[in-house]
Amino acid sequence: MDSDDEKLKGEKVEGLKSETTLPLFNSSTLPLPAHSVRVEVRGLRKSYAGQQVLKGIDLSVERGEIFVIMGPSGSGKSVLLKHIIGLELPDEGQILIEGESILTPGVMDKYRLAMVFQSGALLNSLTVGENVGLYLSEHRLKTAGEIDRITDEKLEFLGLRNVKHRSPSELSGGMKKRVAIARALVIDPQLILYDEPTSELDPLMTVTIGKEILDLKHRIHVTSIVVTHDRDLAFGVADRMAMMYDGNLIAVGLPEQLRHNRDPIIQKFLTADFNLNDKEPA
Ligand SMILES: Nc1ncnc2c1ncn2[C@@H]1O[C@H](COP(=O)(O)OP(=O)(O)OP(=O)(O)O)[C@@H](O)[C@H]1O
Ligand SMILES: [Mg+2]
Repeated sequence: MDSDDEKLKGEKVEGLKSETTLPLFNSSTLPLPAHSVRVEVRGLRKSYAGQQVLKGIDLSVERGEIFVIMGPSGSGKSVLLKHIIGLELPDEGQILIEGESILTPGVMDKYRLAMVFQSGALLNSLTVGENVGLYLSEHRLKTAGEIDRITDEKLEFLGLRNVKHRSPSELSGGMKKRVAIARALVIDPQLILYDEPTSELDPLMTVTIGKEILDLKHRIHVTSIVVTHDRDLAFGVADRMAMMYDGNLIAVGLPEQLRHNRDPIIQKFLTADFNLNDKEPA
């Protein structure tokens, strides 16, 4: 990752250095036949400064599956995703892609993995279009004309054609999120990880992103792992779901199985709502 970082165009992105290099894959491997990958997480543990954040995660996500992870803030969802794409190293346990540890030399270069970060991680020194095409241009994967065409296609897809030449700093939070998704899509990933893809989006755009996640599954059979607090999105796209709580996956199953799970933590999370009747009369 460090060598990729050095290639960035001179912009300091505090705390996000490695994130700006995504999508993650090796230029020499393009083009690959489109197919999805199977992901396995085994016995994953991670602590930061003595605080255990992941407490033994076991998880399998099948090829072409949309796997949704829900859970309270701070439960370890983003840390788990960062381990799956190798941005963080486990204290114990391993991550396998198609049965091979991601720490085995060459494995991470073999597959097209992309992540849409919670933060977006866009470079303000580049235009929106340049951000989207960045990975392809940095690694000289396509001609300038092809990169432009792919960039336009992804921007169009997410309703962003009219902001192609703007700086990300001029966009709303929701637009930035969509740019980050467009950027992840340029490599036609085999695995795409979404960290809160709709957290700053209005309901209509949330539906668009949900449809996009489903569409990608059907069109390119990509494997998707979606971290979200949005219950509508979660139940709208998930093949299977997991509930993460305090560093553990406390339930994994079909959406209906989670919906009917009697665990009070899960029920509380899935049914939390405003109860206007509780309000004191004025
Ligand atoms: N690099 C790091 N150094 C130290 N602590 C960290 C680091 N990354 C995450 N943590 C801690 O790990 C815990 C889980 O963080 P994480 O970002 O995975 O939560 P989350 O479930 O994604 O929450 P949210 O829903 O708010 O995004 C938090 O207590 C956080 O402070
Ligand atoms: Mg998070």
